[in-house]
Amino acid sequence: MITIKVFENYDELSAQAAEMFKEVLNTTENPVLGLATGSSPEGLYKALVEMHKNKELDFSNVSTVNLDEYVGLSGDHDQSYRYFMNTHLFDHVNIDKAKTFVPNGLAQDLEQEGKDYDQRIKDLGGVDLQVLGIGSNGHIGFNEPAEKLVLGTHVEDLTESTIEANSRFFETRDDVPKRAISMGLGTILDAKKIILVASGKSKAEAIASLVDEYITTQVPATLLKLHPDVTVLVDKEAASLL
Ligand code: GLP
Repeated sequence: MITIKVFENYDELSAQAAEMFKEVLNTTENPVLGLATGSSPEGLYKALVEMHKNKELDFSNVSTVNLDEYVGLSGDHDQSYRYFMNTHLFDHVNIDKAKTFVPNGLAQDLEQEGKDYDQRIKDLGGVDLQVLGIGSNGHIGFNEPAEKLVLGTHVEDLTESTIEANSRFFETRDDVPKRAISMGLGTILDAKKIILVASGKSKAEAIASLVDEYITTQVPATLLKLHPDVTVLVDKEAASLL
């Protein structure tokens, strides 16, 4: 079931997302957090770092698993998702980096890497709280619109619209990797609780597709309707077509 909450602005929705993280961290013995990259969760991570500084949050027992990673980028490339996580969160809190997992985009055997990644999540006991962003075409992680979607962690070819959207982070459009390794919809839906954060007009259409009675693999985020506990936190612009 999806609950949508609309906030005045991005800072307010980020603060609410951080409160929901705090609740899970404070009530779970060895919390496993599912994390996302992109601009949308940046405010959440900032708020978590702030809470940690104020001694409200302890990350010493926390493990994390990230949704996705570009194929071909090493963890020290400044556009890799490992680098993003280190610089936006892990470097600023008391987390043991050995317990932070991001798919390895440099793995020789990417198919095996996907299988191992799903097994790792199982071994950790599953994800307690997963945060998601959403692409303007409705992709989550890097699960792009398609006739069929893959359940487990796997390699995806990025769509032109995603390459275009993500080119803002790279010097040229040609520098954007064309493939990524991403948790599948099955992996994502296995999380006990999910939060999706979105802001801005470009997300309004994708957000509107979360409230009608349809699910379609052409808008991967609509499959979240099958999950029992999803909270969507949006600002007014992202909510403008609701
Ligand atoms: C990327 C990521 C997604 C993210 C989406 C939206 O392609 N793989 O996880 O949700 O883009 O990004 P942003 O939050 O920057 O708009």
